[in-house]
Amino acid sequence: METEKAILGRRAVRDYERKAVPDGVIGKILKAGAMAPSAMDRQPCRFVVITNREKMAELSGKVKEKAGLLGFGMRLAERAKLKEDVIFYGAPLLILIVAENGKWAALDCALAAQNMMLRAYDLGLGSCFIGFARFLGDDRETLRSLGIKDSQDLYCPLIFGYPKKWPAPKSREANVQKTIG
Ligand SMILES: Cc1cc2nc3c(=O)[nH]c(=O)nc-3n(C[C@H](O)[C@H](O)[C@H](O)COP(=O)(O)O)c2cc1C
Repeated sequence: METEKAILGRRAVRDYERKAVPDGVIGKILKAGAMAPSAMDRQPCRFVVITNREKMAELSGKVKEKAGLLGFGMRLAERAKLKEDVIFYGAPLLILIVAENGKWAALDCALAAQNMMLRAYDLGLGSCFIGFARFLGDDRETLRSLGIKDSQDLYCPLIFGYPKKWPAPKSREANVQKTIG
């Protein structure tokens, strides 16, 4: 697929078929993440791949609990009326990008995330960055249960799957602040 088509066509998807993502496809998405640039080519990103629905439901519950405690409860309660799982939207695949904390870690992980979402689109999958799931970042016990070390932080939680329907493409203009010719 042409890069332009992927960049212009990708949208956040929040409604998924129950169909699982095959291992080979997951591998291609991970490879796209691994190919992202990183500061000093240190390649700090590690990927935690979760396809177990029970685990995802458990994590979703924990996010809601944490987010509720921090004052997002109302908003989530409103959204809960619309969707069964307001955090992961019933997606069959959750990938957590984690890294050892460091000056560039967040940027390195974000670049990997965008590569992965574009590659997923190229492979016919929808995706969405789930910032809410970063509430799990304070819950070391849960992170440990996912194999995430105490020295690592959770930067980019991403969901993937086959969309029930594709959101229409959106157009945006660049907000150029100043041009110095
Ligand atoms: C850092 C970040 C955090 C986000 N967190 C959430 C989230 O928790 N839940 C959600 O449904 N969408 C989340 N999104 C998706 C954005 O809402 C979405 O990308 C934005 O509305 C633009 O729509 P588009 O991706 O279709 O262009 C997040 C996106 C980013 C980049």
